[in-house]
Amino acid sequence: MDLFSAIDTEPVRKHMEELAAELDRLNHEYYMNDRSMVSDEEFDHMMRELQDLERQYPELASPLSPTKRVGGEVNKSFRQVQHRFPMLSLGNTYSIEEIEGFEARTRKLLDGEQFTYTCELKYDGVAIGLTYRHGQLVQAVTRGNGSIGDDITTNAKTISTIPLRLHGDYPDDFEVRGEVVYPFEAFDAMNRQREADGNEPFANPRNAASGSLKLQDSAECAKRKLLFCMYFMMAPDGIELKPTHLGRLDWARQMGFKVQPYIQECKGINEIKAFIDHWDKARWELPFGIDGIVIKVNQTALWDKMGLTAKSPRWAIAYKFKAERVSTPLESISYQVGRTGLITPVANLAPVWLGGTMVKRATLVNADFIAKMSICKGDSLFIEKGGEIIPKVVGVDMEKRVVGAMPIKYITHCPECGTELVRMDGEAGHYCPNSDGCHPQIIGRLEHFVSRKAMAIDTLGPERLELLYSAGLVRNIADIYNLKREQLIGLGTEVAASIQDKGADNMLAAINGSKQVPFERVVYALGIRYVGEVGAKKLARYFKNIDALMVAPEEELAQVEDVGEVTAHAVCEWFAKADHKVIIARLRAAGLQMEVRMLSGDNKLAGMTIVVSGVFEHFSRDEIKADIEKHGGKVSGSISSKTSYLLAGEKMGPEKQKKAERLGVKVISEKEYLAMVQ
Ligand code: IVH
Repeated sequence: MDLFSAIDTEPVRKHMEELAAELDRLNHEYYMNDRSMVSDEEFDHMMRELQDLERQYPELASPLSPTKRVGGEVNKSFRQVQHRFPMLSLGNTYSIEEIEGFEARTRKLLDGEQFTYTCELKYDGVAIGLTYRHGQLVQAVTRGNGSIGDDITTNAKTISTIPLRLHGDYPDDFEVRGEVVYPFEAFDAMNRQREADGNEPFANPRNAASGSLKLQDSAECAKRKLLFCMYFMMAPDGIELKPTHLGRLDWARQMGFKVQPYIQECKGINEIKAFIDHWDKARWELPFGIDGIVIKVNQTALWDKMGLTAKSPRWAIAYKFKAERVSTPLESISYQVGRTGLITPVANLAPVWLGGTMVKRATLVNADFIAKMSICKGDSLFIEKGGEIIPKVVGVDMEKRVVGAMPIKYITHCPECGTELVRMDGEAGHYCPNSDGCHPQIIGRLEHFVSRKAMAIDTLGPERLELLYSAGLVRNIADIYNLKREQLIGLGTEVAASIQDKGADNMLAAINGSKQVPFERVVYALGIRYVGEVGAKKLARYFKNIDALMVAPEEELAQVEDVGEVTAHAVCEWFAKADHKVIIARLRAAGLQMEVRMLSGDNKLAGMTIVVSGVFEHFSRDEIKADIEKHGGKVSGSISSKTSYLLAGEKMGPEKQKKAERLGVKVISEKEYLAMVQ
């Protein structure tokens, strides 16, 4: 940088610093103190200004800038790092008697000492450790196996309740531990969006929090609205912390951490039990999930005195809540018809409160499930809700069974179109075979076809598809490509807003755009039973084009990796139908991709099966797998005698190495791999 520009940027640097400080302050007020000091627009305006300046003057951008909250950096792979202090777990129990035992043992061990306990929530999320030096966040690491975890610093910086710089007085070098949780409201919203996009929803907030921290794109993580609940602080020898756990948490709050207020100092077992009792019931009123209560000795000097067992400290214990269970009358059973014709029985229950929500329905899975539980008409069912969000039927409340109750008779005909149901040998589910005449199947197939992972025509939501169907414009997936502008304009009623000029244009543009969607996704979009995203990819890559796939014999289909006999049969059956042949011909004529587009054109790894393990320098795990496939090789998850190479990155597990040696599989490094393909 020459002198002129050095002088020139000084006011810019100052302005950037001021903006960053102000944004930090506003963030702190908003997330820690629930106070909005400016309007959202003003905040966004300042944030954008700082982002623009950082783009223009990257050398002046701070690694701890509030813009990092918005994310944008991409994690290639998560570096594995050693924890400075091992991340211990706690002894845990579901029994109050064992908590009494813990308390009695502690009293005995600390005979003659003045001490108290703290009771706090056991947050149900993902444990992470945050290292701060000179008041700045330097590293965030997941628990991993307790000694080594993943470096997730970039994603952690997007969590608004993790301070990037600390306030006031703080230790010069220390670590903070806590749990990253996914608050219910944000979790529900995210799952609804995932379903709308055709993605699998997360089973529970814990899994979702864990998945979010491992996202490659930190901007995606920023959207997840995760919450960090701080619960522990530690420092290397020579750095003084406060002498009580409560004092440390208070101190952390002053530094800018979000410390949940639900924590209590308890003198003995009665107060501990009262705290547990209270939260066992009140836990569903919290905005996030907890799975128990953690009890710790408050005076930290006594921790060393009490010491550790094999893997957990003696000065703390976790009480875990039992899954909540209620019994409620089964009022009726509805039978839902999916896009493949699969019937799902659903129990309509007398509404009952369970784990903070009103439960009215729960799946009964299939006919076998109902038979196994021997559910009868008029029964009351036990419903349970543990860590999962979705309530489960776990049994029949036999005390409420009436004498002479009749077992449930499973339906024999489709509730939607009246066709007789079929159940194939070896399958648990019943199907409606009337795929071309059964309304929910037709609409379901259209919805699947346009979903994100398939053709991604996002201007065609369920309401519009229903509209186009009832107007007689779209009866099957190929009809979508025959839609004309003049047919669309004005379509709709008060229920679904009428389609205007712009809406029609956007719709047609999205339909047109979908013609570039790669062949493997076209195969997935067809909605062939059992052919999921992975199966479709494997089929597309194996057969390379639709003509080969259409005429492939069942035995050959079954040879494709991840495609079993059942799927092979379904694929054959699908392409054998005359109607489907017409649909394929029409989709081809419309210009959809009907063959794989070769990216590299080389087949250097043709016929080879490679197992990938460990961490790589030039690729993320997904990237290296894609690279192998690009060169015509196959990726497999486990080593067998058929494996050509074990491609070993850093930190590969010793078992893999041993297995490769035992089976005589050659182990190659990333460098050797690159030499092979280049
Ligand atoms: S204290 C050395 N406090 O529960 C003690 N843990 O096995 C450190 N957890 O892995 C843990 N809420 O991830 C503590 N208020 C809380 C907690 C908590 C959740 C998690 C933590 C730990 C596990 C216990």
